[in-house]
Amino acid sequence: MFRNLVSVSFILAMSVLSISGTVSAEDQSKGWTADPDLVKKFESRSSSNNGGRDFIYSEEKVPEYSLPDILTTDAGEKVTTVKEWESTRRPEILELFRKHVYGRNPVGRPEQMSFDVYDVDPKAMDGKATRKQVKITFENNGKSLSVNVVIFIPNDAEHPVPAYLLICNRDKTNIDPTRENKIEYWPAEEIVARGYAAVAFHNADIDPDDYDKFQNGIHGVLDEGERHDDAWATLAAWAWGASRVLDYLETDRMIDAEHVAVVGHSRGGKTSLWAGATDERFAMVVSNNSGCGGAALSRRQYGETVGRINRAFPHWFCEKFSEYNENESEIPVDQHMLLALAAPRLLYVTSANEDLWADPRGEFLSCKEASTAYEIYGKTGLGTNQIPALNEPVQQGNIGYHVRSGGHGLTLYDWTQFMNFTDKHWKKR
Ligand code: GCU
Repeated sequence: MFRNLVSVSFILAMSVLSISGTVSAEDQSKGWTADPDLVKKFESRSSSNNGGRDFIYSEEKVPEYSLPDILTTDAGEKVTTVKEWESTRRPEILELFRKHVYGRNPVGRPEQMSFDVYDVDPKAMDGKATRKQVKITFENNGKSLSVNVVIFIPNDAEHPVPAYLLICNRDKTNIDPTRENKIEYWPAEEIVARGYAAVAFHNADIDPDDYDKFQNGIHGVLDEGERHDDAWATLAAWAWGASRVLDYLETDRMIDAEHVAVVGHSRGGKTSLWAGATDERFAMVVSNNSGCGGAALSRRQYGETVGRINRAFPHWFCEKFSEYNENESEIPVDQHMLLALAAPRLLYVTSANEDLWADPRGEFLSCKEASTAYEIYGKTGLGTNQIPALNEPVQQGNIGYHVRSGGHGLTLYDWTQFMNFTDKHWKKR
């Protein structure tokens, strides 16, 4: 099954899978591989902030690594049933990610949270949609914070409708409620035309995307007492914010809150994975070009690394995660296990062929490995061990994946594939 198993370390200990960095000739002939000229171009860039290491862009340079096994418990037992997965192994993995990677979110809704639907236009988008804007306000100890949510709901549809909730990590013009700015990053008109509600909020409304020692944003409102090395940081705050938007969507009769996909691009795609892991109400998780700390396997050390990301963005992960800088093999989890936490729900991961920083192959391999959690439910995960060719989405199981041509970005091509996938699963075409 694993063509690239390493013979020297062929001891398949119960808890680890040994995998080498080499890609077989068969893989190379069939599926996507990085353009060698592009690899050279990336390799010629100087490697700064990477703990004295060069960044890796050639498969030959990927070190041998062993992945922790998704289905083997901390006590060394293999999980084979849904009951064991849900009562033992899933909670164990979630706890490992809380403790070592993303930190501990406050659980659930805060006591003082209110929804103010302050804008309703039933004839938005030339009469095709109802626009709503909602202000979600949190209060604690005399401090407060508000998050703005922009929503377009198709009028010509049977309500309630399923929805795509975007965690917008670009500036607010990308989720323009007036629709003067129409950008592929959030193609609200196309989403509405396909019968889905388009919902978005701006990540910085919840927590600023800079290292402010957690003084501002939701940390400034909710955090009390001393910070520990597993305290939630900024990605976890954004993910928690997505859950609060879902709290509102559950109250909106025009929305089918049981069919909400949480979508994120890049840092937002790391966030959507954590949102889906911590909140099982999300029926689907979409992680676009998320790379390191998202869908890509950390142990491959391809493109961005754990050390680089922690040094460049010290506010994204919990403090404990920085203990694994230049020490990836010691992380008790790898990112395939985060993807496994989406099971048995729908999951869609994307790569872009010029986005080597995010390690397209590492993102694919995570999906492949995560499939075992779907199999526990008798479901197909990805349904293939072979990375697909460029622009040939894999959508046969409950995990969708594609490598799109072009650079780092969230495009109409990507959105079209997500909607094709949910049409298949949610509309039973
Ligand atoms: C940087 C960062 C990535 C991140 C990306 C983004 O490139 O290194 O980890 O995904 O920004 O969010 O656009």
